[in-house]
Amino acid sequence: MRCCINPSILSADFVNLQAELDRIAAADAVHVDVMDNHFVPNLTLGLPVASRIQAVSPIPLDAHLMIEDPDRWAPGFADAGLASVTFHAEAATAPIKLARELRARGAKAGLALRPATPVEPYLDLLHEFDMILVMTVEPGFGGQSFLDVTLPKIRRARAAIDGSGAAVQLQVDGGVTEETIVRAAEAGANVFVAGSSVYGAEDPERAITRLRDIAESVWAGARS
Ligand code: DX5
Ligand code: ZN
Repeated sequence: MRCCINPSILSADFVNLQAELDRIAAADAVHVDVMDNHFVPNLTLGLPVASRIQAVSPIPLDAHLMIEDPDRWAPGFADAGLASVTFHAEAATAPIKLARELRARGAKAGLALRPATPVEPYLDLLHEFDMILVMTVEPGFGGQSFLDVTLPKIRRARAAIDGSGAAVQLQVDGGVTEETIVRAAEAGANVFVAGSSVYGAEDPERAITRLRDIAESVWAGARS
């Protein structure tokens, strides 16, 4: 299984975004956390800034929309050319319609679940999505500790994805380090968002490579 490391620019220096993007050019995608101060108690950036990041980034963008009313706002991110747009199940009114709209506009469609949101109600919809994001911290802030209580859900999501035959990536986001990535990969995740453990490292490129190597060795060993 190909494992992807998507660093979160939430932990980057927002005054020097272009330089911060260049520091993670070895990553698979840049994870862009959009927060509206309603769905989560924090405010980050919106479509105009995401579009500028899209224009200068050497790697594709993976937007994570932690916003109310994604039915209204998410399609704009697909129109701006972002490779992947993930919205929250708890916030969407019509997730199937929205996923289809994102795909029709050329983006991959992702469905995110807060730590306490079960995956079971969405298992019949796997073919509608390119990615399921299991939050491994409560969304809103970087630098929190990985919630091991989410591991059984990651396992159940992986089993369902494998059983469905759908080409769905399983992403985890929050508290991913060289230690916790082992448990997340063992449980079946293959796309890993890492904010503070990449941008907090002395050499972000080396941190990305190490995280990817660890995840791929778990997949090649315990999971194969
Ligand atoms: C949290 C965000 C995450 C966060 C990850 O709400 O969705 O993407 O930036 O940061 P770390 O890796 O520091 O937990
Ligand atoms: Zn995120």
